[in-house]
Amino acid sequence: MSLQAPSFVRHQQLINWVAEVAALTKPAAIHWVDGSEAENSQLLAQMVAAGTLTPLNPAKRPDSYAAFSDPSDVARVEDRTYVCSARREDAGPNNNWMDPAEMRSTLNGLFDGCMAGRTLYVIPFSMGPLGSPIAHVGIELTDSPYVVASMRIMTRMGRNVYEVLGEDGPFVPCVHSVGAPLAAGQADKPWPCNPDTKYIVHYPETREIWSYGSGYGGNALLGKKCFALRIASTMGRDQGWLAEHMLILGVENPQGDKRYVAAAFPSACGKTNFAMLIPPKTYDGWKVTTVGDDIAWIKPAADGQLYAINPENGYFGVAPGTSVKSNPNAMAMLNEGVIFTNVALTDDGDVWWEGMSKDIPAHLTDWQGKDWTPDCGRKAAHPNARFTVPAAKCPSLDPAWNDPAGVPISAFIFGGRRSSTVPLVFEAGSWEDGVYMAATMGSETTAAAFGAQGVTRRDPFAMLPFCGYHMGDYFQHWLGMADKVSKLPRIFCVNWFRTDADGKFIWPGFGDNMRVLEWIVGRVQGTAQAEDSPLGKVPAYAHLNWAGMDGFTEQHFQQLMVLDEAAWRHELAAHDEWFAKLADALPASLAARRSKLAEALGV
Ligand code: OXD
Ligand code: MN
Repeated sequence: MSLQAPSFVRHQQLINWVAEVAALTKPAAIHWVDGSEAENSQLLAQMVAAGTLTPLNPAKRPDSYAAFSDPSDVARVEDRTYVCSARREDAGPNNNWMDPAEMRSTLNGLFDGCMAGRTLYVIPFSMGPLGSPIAHVGIELTDSPYVVASMRIMTRMGRNVYEVLGEDGPFVPCVHSVGAPLAAGQADKPWPCNPDTKYIVHYPETREIWSYGSGYGGNALLGKKCFALRIASTMGRDQGWLAEHMLILGVENPQGDKRYVAAAFPSACGKTNFAMLIPPKTYDGWKVTTVGDDIAWIKPAADGQLYAINPENGYFGVAPGTSVKSNPNAMAMLNEGVIFTNVALTDDGDVWWEGMSKDIPAHLTDWQGKDWTPDCGRKAAHPNARFTVPAAKCPSLDPAWNDPAGVPISAFIFGGRRSSTVPLVFEAGSWEDGVYMAATMGSETTAAAFGAQGVTRRDPFAMLPFCGYHMGDYFQHWLGMADKVSKLPRIFCVNWFRTDADGKFIWPGFGDNMRVLEWIVGRVQGTAQAEDSPLGKVPAYAHLNWAGMDGFTEQHFQQLMVLDEAAWRHELAAHDEWFAKLADALPASLAARRSKLAEALGV
């Protein structure tokens, strides 16, 4: 095995680190990824030959592939995810923690020889536009060609990154192995992974990521949740910026006044749909454009505003539920050049998933390779089946999405899935009130994501699984932004998911969310009216634009906005329980905010 780095790599510390990891993991070869077309084609062909990828029918979906994972490897593994800070209290109760020395010794044992028979790929990638002052560089070492092909879509990956790094630039080292060494002559599996042992480990002080045993999504594409959220949130805390689980979109009115908002929703709340929203027909002259659908890096700039980039380069979206009704823009971008994972295959070599079309195919091959018919009692696609596609293919892509300076953020929006209690929309009375609301936000679990249905799980800022340090310190960091930024964005909360007595959604959602977005942007511009409420400012019925929304009455609106006393008493008790868990680092001002809110609500 040659340890010789190619001439485009001039960073000696990086070369030494690759040699060290290779000495530990003992791969059969090292491949320094350059990100070229030729390299990508070769890797795709290799994965087709190995059975990892199935090419789709080129007449139906050109340049697209389906991958099927091992049934033990279908989602992020939160219970196997660790933040190993030097001190336990820095990781907080929101993270699994192990002493870093102990974890290093466990991982050294697991990584010893774990790449035997495989190739170690060295992937240089930039999170954010190359060279942007908001972007940061990572290097992922992996033994999975599927990870290489996916990182090429999800990040700016390739040899240009070495130009940004130069001879001594900083990078976040990320080591990933599927944890399935091959003995001499042993045949490989189409989806190698370790069904018994998985570790997703972060060392915040040294900003390192080590991931073992899984080849799927956020466990393996280490630029995404591991770097862009867990490690970046600690970098943001130390350096005075924000790494958030937020989409970013632009809204332009017919007069050409354009604003950008960033919005946090927990997983499975339709973030990608909201990021690619198409306004109702009556919104002539309005434009909604997409900067990102999952993660935002946000830094204060000299003009006193916060500027955001989408650090990613593609979308790793949940396929089930995506349709021309829920997200026409997403459907359009999935026409070609896509890697699908764990979807079902039609008999003519295309893909299908639950919710894609009203017409359900009479026969499919399900994500586990079994015959599927509509009456078989099983899902055809795994509920966490995904598409991986370049951002550039999105029809609503914002022209500034690649701007190294980022886009100025006018408003933050927070939303969970709540069948009751939380109104359709309100504006927080102040930055502190907004931080309180985001810190206590909750979301009801869906059966697909968490096993039990309808349980409200607190998911502050939609960051619970992604904050790389103590959540109480994170709240303090958000409160502290008020001293660093003179033109703070306004904070709004939304809830698309309130239900009626029959359990049916009252709000139609999707494109009609534009009506709420118009009000939010109007508040920022000073054109939208509002009235007072115990939660802050709310729209009256007459303050929203209802043109073209037939069948939705003022009574429906009131049902969405009503603040129920008993429900709020219960809600505040749940906030208390939640805050008690964070007591050792909870900012005192949030407890004060809670008393003010109870008084305003009269509960
Ligand atoms: C995601 C998630 O995959 O939030 O984006 O779970
Ligand atoms: Mn996400």
